[in-house]
Amino acid sequence: MIIAPSLLAADIGKLAAEVKRVNRSGADWLHLDVMDGHFVPNLSLGPDVVRALRPLCKLFFDVHLMCSKPEVLLEPFARAGADQITVHVELGSRVTPLLWKIRSLGCKVGLAINPPTTASHLEPFLRQVDLLLLMTVNPGFGGQSFIHEMLTKIQQVRAWRDAKRLSYRIEVDGGVNFETAADCAHAGADTFVSGTALFGRRNLAAAVQRMRRLVTAGAARVAARRAHVAR
Ligand code: DX5
Ligand code: ZN
Repeated sequence: MIIAPSLLAADIGKLAAEVKRVNRSGADWLHLDVMDGHFVPNLSLGPDVVRALRPLCKLFFDVHLMCSKPEVLLEPFARAGADQITVHVELGSRVTPLLWKIRSLGCKVGLAINPPTTASHLEPFLRQVDLLLLMTVNPGFGGQSFIHEMLTKIQQVRAWRDAKRLSYRIEVDGGVNFETAADCAHAGADTFVSGTALFGRRNLAAAVQRMRRLVTAGAARVAARRAHVAR
C-alpha cells in the first residue's frame, strides 16, 4: 500500500517547509500535479520547482502530467528528479511513444485516465506500464468530491491485472479521503493520492498512518472475499 500526499493541497507559500513535512510523515511517495492551463483549466508547477524540492525530500517523486504536450516536458521533469512520470490516455495515438520515452529516460511509467473515458482505452497499454492512475474527480483542482462510479473502473483494472498476471500499480487520485480510500482499497486500488484530506491535518504523520490503516483493512477484506470464493 502506497500513500502519496498531493502537493497541490500544501500551503504554497511555504512549499519547502511543506515538502519537508511530507518527508518525515511516513508517506511513501510525493504526488506532484503538473497542469498546463490547456489539458485542464488550471496551472501548477514546472520542472524548476521539482528540481528545487528534490534535495528536500527522499520520497519517490510521482509526477502526474495533465498536459496537452507532454512531449516537451518529459526530459525536463526526468532531469529535475521525477522517479515516475504519468501521462494521460486521452492523448490517443501519442501514448505509445510517450510511454517509451518515459522508460528511456529511466523513469517508471504511468498512464492516467479521466472519469469520462472508458477503461477499455487502457487495455492496449497494460503490459507497458508500471502504474495506472484512475482519476476519481475531473482533473484540474483539489478538494473535489470523489466520483463513486469510478469504483467499478478500479475493479475492472484490478480484474485485468489478476487475470493477466501483471503487476502494475492501481493508483486513485481525486477526492480520496479516509472514507473513500477504504472503498478504493476494497475495490482493488493499492496506491492512494490524497491532497486535501492529508494536508488539511496539522499532524500529517498521524493522518498518513490512519489512511494506511484504513486501506490495509480494506485490502484485507478483498483477500478474505477471494479466499471465500476460492473455497
Ligand atoms: C486533481 C489532481 C489531484 C489532486 C487531489 O486534478 O490530480 O492530485 O491534488 O486532491 P484532493 O485529494 O484534494 O482531491
Ligand atoms: Zn494527480
